[in-house]
Amino acid sequence: MKTYICEICGDAYIGEERPSECPFCGARHNFIKNGVEANPITVQPVELSNRSKKNLETTIGLEMKANATYLCMAGKAQTYEIKAMYKRLAKVELEHANIACKLMKSAMPPAGTETCSDADVENFAETVKLEEVATNLYVQFAKESEERNVKIFFTALAQVEADHIQLIKKIN
Ligand SMILES: [Fe+2]
Ligand SMILES: [Fe+2]
Repeated sequence: MKTYICEICGDAYIGEERPSECPFCGARHNFIKNGVEANPITVQPVELSNRSKKNLETTIGLEMKANATYLCMAGKAQTYEIKAMYKRLAKVELEHANIACKLMKSAMPPAGTETCSDADVENFAETVKLEEVATNLYVQFAKESEERNVKIFFTALAQVEADHIQLIKKIN
């Protein structure tokens, strides 16, 4: 067993092999380092520009909304597999909000509630829409970031949300 650390969320994964994605924030394997080598973006000191502060605040709102939406979808899911998938997606999005709060040095906002459909197929379509909005926004935010760790954060997040679209499209 070894300790691997995700440089995006800073969480440790303990196992025999490096996971293909971070189990906590979904970051791709290239962000997961051997424990001793890891330098997580959330522990690097950074002075945030006003632009980055604004973009991170938008991110926190979007991720909290996604968290509440996916919890609603988990509650309505027709199969245990879909329920478990949405519960995991909800946790991943909550972790994204948590990382943005760490970069901002701010407290997590209270969880809200969102509505969703009773039909899985409609929730899949809504999920793809949400994730497309997030992916495009994070690509733009990555370009706008002057701080190295904020740029890395948005680059990693854009990939994670794009991976979520692929996940949903495979179910359909
Ligand atoms: Fe992670
Ligand atoms: Fe997210």
